[in-house]
Amino acid sequence: MDANFYDTLLDKNKEWVKEKIDSNPDFFEKLREVQNPPILWIGCSDSRVSANQIIGEDPGEIFVHRNIANMVIHTDINMLSVLDYAVNVLKVRHIIVCGHYNCGGMKAAMSNEPVGIIDNWIRHIKDVYRFNNVELDAIEDETERLNTYTELNIREQVYNLAKTYIVQAAWEKKQFLHLHGWIYNIGNGLIKDLGYNLEDNNDLTSVYKLNGLRKNIGY
Ligand code: CO
Repeated sequence: MDANFYDTLLDKNKEWVKEKIDSNPDFFEKLREVQNPPILWIGCSDSRVSANQIIGEDPGEIFVHRNIANMVIHTDINMLSVLDYAVNVLKVRHIIVCGHYNCGGMKAAMSNEPVGIIDNWIRHIKDVYRFNNVELDAIEDETERLNTYTELNIREQVYNLAKTYIVQAAWEKKQFLHLHGWIYNIGNGLIKDLGYNLEDNNDLTSVYKLNGLRKNIGY
């Protein structure tokens, strides 16, 4: 990043503030005390997939967690903390796992090139290939295989959300909480709902179901 680009950042911030106030003088005043976002967004860290911008939402609408390849990993205390806060304090109504085509994390996961410490993260993505290897190995075209792999990874992460006791306890309490899987096309800006919508734990493989969370662990 050159110095000139850096120097313009704070000016751009001032311009944005002016624009917002011009169209709504109370815009920042209203946001000061509380946030009440209806959506938790779990997306990729990729600079081209910015949650608010691609669905045209203002600050205050989306609680965001991003990491490489939009993963929901059950030992990730950062993800679990965001999820717990979003579900139990903010009471979000929708959780969207949004992946994207041309994802560097997915490409790295499909390749056999080591890339360093990040391989430890990418291994979780490789597991998703193994779960679906028959379907994926049958796709000859590499781009098509990567695209399908990316979609299957999003599905896996939606299910990973449903496996957590945080989501299952919310469902047990009859809290409104819908999980969705979306994919973003960097080349045209459009999002597709992949149809992996979960509203209760009936869709979970039985072994993952946790019964009586309130009674047994007081959650
Ligand atoms: Co990505």
